[in-house]
Amino acid sequence: MMMPGMDDMMGRRPPKPFYPSLMDFPTMSAEERKSFEAKAQVRFSAGLAEVAAAEDELRHAHAAKDAAAAERAARRLRDGLNDVSSGAAALRAFAEGKPGPQIARDWFRQQMNLPPDAVHPPSSGLFGLDWIHLAAMAALATVSLLLMVAYGVRTRRAAALADRLVRASATAGATPATAKVESVPTPAAAPVTVPTVPTTRPEAAKLWKGQLRVAAIFTETPNVRTYRFREIGGGPIPFSFCPGQFMTLSADIGGKLIRRSYTIASSAAQTSYVETTIKREDAGVFSEHMHRDVSEGDILDVMAPSGAFTFTGAESDSVVLIGGGVGITPLMAAVRYLCDIAWPGEIFLVYGARTTEDFIFRDELEHLQRRHAKLHVVASMVRATGTSWMGPEGPITKALLADTVPDIASRRVHLCGPPGMMAAIRAILSDLGVPAASIKTEAFGPARGAVPPPGQTLVVELADKALADQPVRPAEPIAAIGPATATIRFAVSNKTAPLAPDQTVLEAAESIGVPIDYACRVGTCGTCKTKLVEGKVTMEIDEALSPEEKSDNIILACQAKSIGNLVVQA
Ligand SMILES: Cc1cc2nc3c(=O)[nH]c(=O)nc-3n(C[C@H](O)[C@H](O)[C@H](O)COP(=O)(O)OP(=O)(O)OC[C@H]3O[C@@H](n4cnc5c(N)ncnc54)[C@H](O)[C@@H]3O)c2cc1C
Ligand code: FES
Repeated sequence: MMMPGMDDMMGRRPPKPFYPSLMDFPTMSAEERKSFEAKAQVRFSAGLAEVAAAEDELRHAHAAKDAAAAERAARRLRDGLNDVSSGAAALRAFAEGKPGPQIARDWFRQQMNLPPDAVHPPSSGLFGLDWIHLAAMAALATVSLLLMVAYGVRTRRAAALADRLVRASATAGATPATAKVESVPTPAAAPVTVPTVPTTRPEAAKLWKGQLRVAAIFTETPNVRTYRFREIGGGPIPFSFCPGQFMTLSADIGGKLIRRSYTIASSAAQTSYVETTIKREDAGVFSEHMHRDVSEGDILDVMAPSGAFTFTGAESDSVVLIGGGVGITPLMAAVRYLCDIAWPGEIFLVYGARTTEDFIFRDELEHLQRRHAKLHVVASMVRATGTSWMGPEGPITKALLADTVPDIASRRVHLCGPPGMMAAIRAILSDLGVPAASIKTEAFGPARGAVPPPGQTLVVELADKALADQPVRPAEPIAAIGPATATIRFAVSNKTAPLAPDQTVLEAAESIGVPIDYACRVGTCGTCKTKLVEGKVTMEIDEALSPEEKSDNIILACQAKSIGNLVVQA
């Protein structure tokens, strides 16, 4: 007896299975019918024998508690039943006198759980198909085509999104496996991806624009408050950021749209909310608005994140954070984050405040210091006389830094505070041998073009006179608007304006209503990038521009000034 499959191995064609072979016999002679009936009978009997044998095997397997054998027997039983069922069906069909192809079709339909064959009139349509079939096929083809087009579009959009995320993560280093930093026009459409913990420097992370709700307001000192923002629907914050980055808030104040940048002082590991800590400046348009008009539950327009004054722990194995006044906010963002991730490096925070009353985050820093052995906080009060302050007094000095930060010359330093203090500390750090490349700084402003009426000369006072009273070079006037000597043409808007020597391209654009987007107005975020078509400009700060952008004549409109005529692409 031949083993199953031997036909194939010997090169002979295997016999056609029973039911498909019936399709070849639309009409059957009595002899052919007999032969098929015999085959059906054989199939039926073989199936029956198989069922009996499988039943036996099943019983033995059960007695021997052999699960694998029971499985094999069950399979055999199923096959046997199949043969019994198909054999019986064929025998019945032959008994009813059905033609071969119909017996086969009925069998297949039964196997596929389809209703029995309906009797159709002879086709009158194309290719022997009736018009109903043709119409159904055409409809199906159209739907398939539409689905394919939709799939193509979705695939392209997904690829573009993935590309953007890859580029954002490459530049932002925000490891956005789950990160989503994307423009969202309305809160309803806001993606709620959980921001992930950033790891490296983020200069060019794309801005998220949308609205956040003020969930809570905390008083830190008599003139400093913290604003906690949440996603309007209560979900996670819809952007990720690095410690030290800032967000830009905007509001209609007195009929004018005003924007100001504020550091995200909360930890980048916190995904439920972001916090900014805002000092109320004397005659400060936005900070006064925040302190006076904004309450819990209010919704604000927000752009975030921006800025490259970041420290994530990946940049060096220890860090020295030096700050004064409200300049503590980006440093606090780093402290909070590094403590949250239990960063193993040494963290030195050296902070200068006017009085103990003005010591922002004092309680929290004391608490964190107790919990994190690697966090060393040193604070100095400019005026401590008459208070219970037991720590250092006066401005931050060379001796204080040398005593409290061992081997400071070999460490990375982040510095943020009033301009006078920053200049003083830079000089001290240089004396202590800290290379300029190891010192990262951020100045808080004020934002250029924020308040001064056109034509007025402005000499900005230091935000904190007490801290500024240090032996340092004096604060420089930052905006002196004189008579116009040149013109600037905005090529896209086709408008021309006079350009005073100390006026920025952004200010000139605003004076005649040419729209140029901006956020920080201090040259760090890059939102105001514009192409220079003709002329030459100087920029006090251009850190938001890459070398390629500079060689491609991209300028920061908030920084660019000129004494010659200009043409810009805006
Ligand atoms: C990257 C970045 C991060 C920042 N983070 C923070 C933060 O975390 N917390 C914080 O509190 N601030 C922060 N700031 C500063 C903040 O953006 C604002 O500059 C600040 O709040 C003052 O804005 P304002 O509208 O209240 O004041 P403005 O109206 O812009 O005035 C600023 C100051 O200059 C003075 N001034 C303005 N115009 C004149 C004039 N014509 N004559 C005389 N004096 C004038 C005002 O008295 C005021 O004190 C940050 C700034 C930047 C760039
Ligand atoms: S507005 Fe931020 S760089 Fe000009």
